[in-house]
Amino acid sequence: MITLDDFDTYPDFPVPGVLFYDISPILGDAATFRTACAALMPREPVDVVVGVDARGFIFAPVVAQQLDVGMAMVRKKGKMPGVLLESTATIEYGASDLVISPVGIENKRVLVIDDVLATGGTAAAVAEMLHRAGATSVEFSFLLELDALNGREALDGHTVTSVVRVPA
Ligand code: PRP
Repeated sequence: MITLDDFDTYPDFPVPGVLFYDISPILGDAATFRTACAALMPREPVDVVVGVDARGFIFAPVVAQQLDVGMAMVRKKGKMPGVLLESTATIEYGASDLVISPVGIENKRVLVIDDVLATGGTAAAVAEMLHRAGATSVEFSFLLELDALNGREALDGHTVTSVVRVPA
């Protein structure tokens, strides 16, 4: 089982007032990393796993391989070529322009994986792009959810699983 004790915490990073939860201790231990990936598995059948830049990229390929499905990337704008869908996420400390290729998303059931659900701005922007790309369902798995920031409300109507929750 993964608990809050498995994260390192850093106050006032990356900006004053934000408590940063570092996943490095989880990645650094093979058994804990394996447990974390297993806990991110979807509740419903999915056809593709989407990893969110950057830390979603650590977990999404492991889960995709386990499920024997492909993986797609949501990237920060400017890092990916081709015909892309774009959305701007309002996040805990700023805004972020995100892109995804619509190729391989139409009529697919999607699992989105990221490390943290905070305000939900990132995840809501990803959901919006995936629905625009023709996804039939979008489920979310996060390693950590910060209840105080109400991110889950931004994902109303989607299945949302968090491995660890920080109570408000
Ligand atoms: C962090 C985190 C999520 C997002 C959560 O990413 O990895 O993607 O913020 O915040 P939200 O729920 O308020 O949208 P960040 O933008 O810091 O990028 P990084 O993974 O590249 O460090």
